[in-house]
Amino acid sequence: MQIFNSANRYGVIVQSLHWMTVLLVVLAWVLGIGGDILPKGAPRDAGLFVHLTAGSLVLVLTVIRLAWRAVDPSPPAESTLFGDWSFAGIVGLGAKLAHLGLYALLIAVPVVGIVVQFARGGSLPLFGLAEIASPWAPDRTFAHNVKEVHELLAHSLLALAGLHAAAALVHHIVFKDRTLVKMLPGAGNAS
Ligand code: HEM
Ligand code: HEM
Repeated sequence: MQIFNSANRYGVIVQSLHWMTVLLVVLAWVLGIGGDILPKGAPRDAGLFVHLTAGSLVLVLTVIRLAWRAVDPSPPAESTLFGDWSFAGIVGLGAKLAHLGLYALLIAVPVVGIVVQFARGGSLPLFGLAEIASPWAPDRTFAHNVKEVHELLAHSLLALAGLHAAAALVHHIVFKDRTLVKMLPGAGNAS
């Protein structure tokens, strides 16, 4: 098992952070748009609790990922039909901007979500261990407006992640390079 990134693949730390983030983002999004379907009372409260907890974990994992990036640089980009993806050309710049956008949204969506919760006068559950009370008096109009922003940012995150996943699949299927394989655990993943 390889802990750190190498020139050829991501290490187990970055792979785990990446795939846990993917699962938590999808879970938070599904509960965000589908929470109202749950019956009022305990089931809906539980859905919101899981949404808040999964969303907060996304924020924690992203901060850890960004800190880890500083000590363990990512593998260089693969060469493609378009040439070297090492951020020299426009395509490489696009890939770099997409990663930057994903990181910005992985921070912004949970932070704005926390503002929604506080603006409603709700408290922020800390993984069932404790909770932080809202520092503000409830403000319905403000909470509604910030919720709209939270929703828009959340949909943007999913859309960008979809494009990003499609690009990874194009690399794998069309270019047949190691872009996707180096983010996957398993055999053909030699260092
Ligand atoms: C990546 C993480 C997250 C995603 C993808 C996400 C996504 C969403 C979506 C799609 C909605 C539905 C909005 C609507 O239909 O009006 C929503 C609602 C909400 N989110 Fe998030 N969210 C995330 C993180 C968070 C966090 C960290 C918090 C606060 C700790 C939070 C608090 C809320 C609240 C309070 C609502 C309103 C729920 C309701 O009306 O019952 N979210 N979220
Ligand atoms: C919510 C969904 C997703 C989010 C938020 C996300 C986020 C990210 C981020 C921020 C990076 C940059 C890692 C770095 O710092 O170097 C990355 C890399 C990567 N992701 Fe995702 N990702 C998502 C879903 C997926 C899916 C579904 C796939 C596969 C189909 C995928 C495949 C990859 C690959 C292959 C890389 C490495 C790219 C390279 O080295 O050029 N991601 N992802």
